[in-house]
Amino acid sequence: MITPLVMGNWKMAIDLDGVVSFKAMWSSKRLLKGVEVAIAPPVPYLALMTDLPNVSLAGQDASTQSIGARTGDVSAKMLSDFTCRYVIVGHSERRQNYAEANEQIAEKARQVQALGMTPVVCVGESASEREAGLAEDFVTRQVIDSCVGLTSDLVIAYEPVWAIGSGEAASPEIASAMHGRIKAALAESLGDIRVLYGGSVSVTNCASFSKAPEVDGLLVGGASLEAESFWQICASVGESS
Ligand code: 13P
Repeated sequence: MITPLVMGNWKMAIDLDGVVSFKAMWSSKRLLKGVEVAIAPPVPYLALMTDLPNVSLAGQDASTQSIGARTGDVSAKMLSDFTCRYVIVGHSERRQNYAEANEQIAEKARQVQALGMTPVVCVGESASEREAGLAEDFVTRQVIDSCVGLTSDLVIAYEPVWAIGSGEAASPEIASAMHGRIKAALAESLGDIRVLYGGSVSVTNCASFSKAPEVDGLLVGGASLEAESFWQICASVGESS
């Protein structure tokens, strides 16, 4: 059986005080079984996070280049040097704000795999694509084009754009249906791939996702910033697995 993965994506939504209080609170919590926990902090705080017990580290993004004159970029090697096990690529905030295309995201993911880390490739449709009945075709295309040249050491995160930060999570049925479609799209070339759900996951709705077929874990934004709520989400996934 696959161990579910719950990853916190802190985005640019935390500061040093927040990191320090998260760590203090998290360290007072019981260690969890039946769930793999990972956190993607902002890069400047990575070094502060390497001593958190039973928590893997993740990068929030990686450059398409391995080294060179790329002001502001962070290479996969730099993330690997700080013991990252995972790297998120293709988050919808980067697709939207920096016009990142599937081809570029595939290149980032290849850089991540070349360093022995696992890319978490994010995909998801907008509200208008869903309303037009195009969600499944759109996401399938994103998945195929963002995974060119990758090996099976890969996680996909399905994060519908309309569910991110809106308080309106997708239903477990919508998530399961899309995850099934994503897995089918990759099965022939890559085998079984873990697919996480992300978008307004909270303490109140997390249990419904962990029972949903095809949902292999969660990618959590806002609710991962406080140790108490993130721990409760991780515990609910672990205990139900
Ligand atoms: P929220 O959980 O805040 O909706 O964010 C989801 C997300 O974008 C995680 O990558």
